[in-house]
Amino acid sequence: MPAQNQPRHRLIVALDVPTAAQALALADSLAPQVGFFKVGLQLFLDAGFAVCDALSKRGHKVMLDLKFHDIPQTVALATAQLANHDIALATVHGYPQVVAAAAKAKGRTKILAVTVLTSLGHEELAQSGFAGTLADLVVLRAETSLAAGADGIVCSPLETSLVRKALGTKAVIATPGIRPLDSARDDQTRTATPQAAIAAGADYIIVGRPITKAADPAAAARAIIDEIG
Ligand code: C5P
Repeated sequence: MPAQNQPRHRLIVALDVPTAAQALALADSLAPQVGFFKVGLQLFLDAGFAVCDALSKRGHKVMLDLKFHDIPQTVALATAQLANHDIALATVHGYPQVVAAAAKAKGRTKILAVTVLTSLGHEELAQSGFAGTLADLVVLRAETSLAAGADGIVCSPLETSLVRKALGTKAVIATPGIRPLDSARDDQTRTATPQAAIAAGADYIIVGRPITKAADPAAAARAIIDEIG
């Protein structure tokens, strides 16, 4: 099996904690079985690129999940800032203008387009003025994002097989909204188990609270790796 397909390389742990010290302690407690970590808004606003650099210095891969969504010039300039750091994956919202601007400036980083946040359901979509189905919107955003230059897509596990079918094998698919059977759903709406997400065609599963809030995070990570193995 190629190294990147090994179960432990397909788990990205979301370091949704407030400080670099907490993030690095968590990463250290999960290494060596976890080697891919996601830095999101909360952590980045406190620790900036320093925490990304500290993770890559430890040999980990980093996903920077700041979900850029702005005018093309701003997105391109922000994306260009990634070039001085070892960021494997970065996220933007899946609007063609935004994706194209990020793709143009991405350097070695792969750009993943967020289709529809996994916390949103049909009701929220209707409230935001979209009349179609959630699956239609996810596939539309996935296809237009790939056409605009994205390397892959972030989508819920419930839409993963549809997106995989629409985009083929070349696109990277990363799915948050992962909940092992014994976990709370928290604020996620469109969830599935680790195994179901991988079976649906995800390359990566992104897992936060089921690991970070577990009594024993390393054991929770191990159980998930075993489940997808
Ligand atoms: O704790 P939990 O497993 O729900 O964390 C999921 C992580 O994935 C969070 O960091 C969240 O910001 C991120 N995410 C998401 N839905 C998306 C994109 C990213 O939940 N569409």
